[in-house]
Amino acid sequence: MKPSRSVLSVPGHMDKMQKKAAAGAADVIMLDLEDSVPADKKLIARQIITKAILTGDWKGKTLAVRINPLDTPFAYEDIIQVVEAAGQAIDFIVIPKVAHAGDIHFLARLLNGIEMRKKIYSKIAIEASIETAAGLEQVTSIAQADQRLRSLSFGVADYTTSIGAKLVSLSGHGENEEEIYPGHRWHYPISRIVMAAKANGLLAIDAPFGNFKAPKALESAAAMAAALGCDGKWVIHPDQIEIVNKVFSPTPEEIRRAKQILDAVKTAGSSSQGATAINGQMIDLATARLAEKVWDQARQLGLVEK
Ligand code: COA
Ligand code: MG
Repeated sequence: MKPSRSVLSVPGHMDKMQKKAAAGAADVIMLDLEDSVPADKKLIARQIITKAILTGDWKGKTLAVRINPLDTPFAYEDIIQVVEAAGQAIDFIVIPKVAHAGDIHFLARLLNGIEMRKKIYSKIAIEASIETAAGLEQVTSIAQADQRLRSLSFGVADYTTSIGAKLVSLSGHGENEEEIYPGHRWHYPISRIVMAAKANGLLAIDAPFGNFKAPKALESAAAMAAALGCDGKWVIHPDQIEIVNKVFSPTPEEIRRAKQILDAVKTAGSSSQGATAINGQMIDLATARLAEKVWDQARQLGLVEK
């Protein structure tokens, strides 16, 4: 699968931003019909993103569309109108506020019909956004609901509202968390989402960070998500892309260490009893599997020779 380190959310009614997004370095562009689009622009936003999808020069980026939640009057037409018109160029649909597996079944059935009718031969994938208490409670069955699922993402602002927790910043998207909780306030939901995703072969993507003027704080929030097993993070501003791409890429030091471990394991070969030592540190087959993962990721990103 192509990398999904940074997922840039772009408001559906802002064609200028969509052009900028296409020229930028985000791995995934998510054209948004939901919360960044005001109610009076919901219908025009569908037309604007359809045109952008079909005529933009996306330079091989993964393209996603976030529809409105299924309990709104917009969602069913978001799906039908946008997928009928541009489905062949859409990689995945993001459903916000997924509450249970039925939401995924609904979208998957609708996509089956549209793909048959419009002769779209590549199956459009699905990302489920887990951002309510109900969604988190059902996360395993959501992750197992359909073959089309490719990722689960965490929505921090709506999750905060859903569980009635305190708002600690102006934007509500992950800033100033350390001021209210000694540790990582969202450790449990993120880890729970990561576990459900990884148990079912899906990617886990962290929520965006709302303060786009705070690069250090963004970097540490992204590093925390990476430490918990996330594969990438949503971003809301072009200035956040490079930071997030870097955090979710192996560093030269990590690549060097992975090579050292793989070489040591190779040299030990079948004479090894399973564990060996480098500079007084034990490496075993579990270490080798970790190193292989880093090496594969570096290869996919073109950071080492194939
Ligand atoms: N995608 C593409 N381009 C974007 C962008 C985005 N998400 N956010 C900002 N830009 C562009 C601006 O249009 C501007 O372009 P220009 O230099 O060609 O004029 C440039 O980046 C700098 O933007 P800036 O002036 O710093 O910010 P702004 O005031 O225009 O926008 C926000 C700030 C928060 C309104 C904007 O970043 C945004 O709408 N982000 C997405 C919000 C979203 O999708 N929310 C839902 C998901 S949680
Ligand atoms: Mg949300």
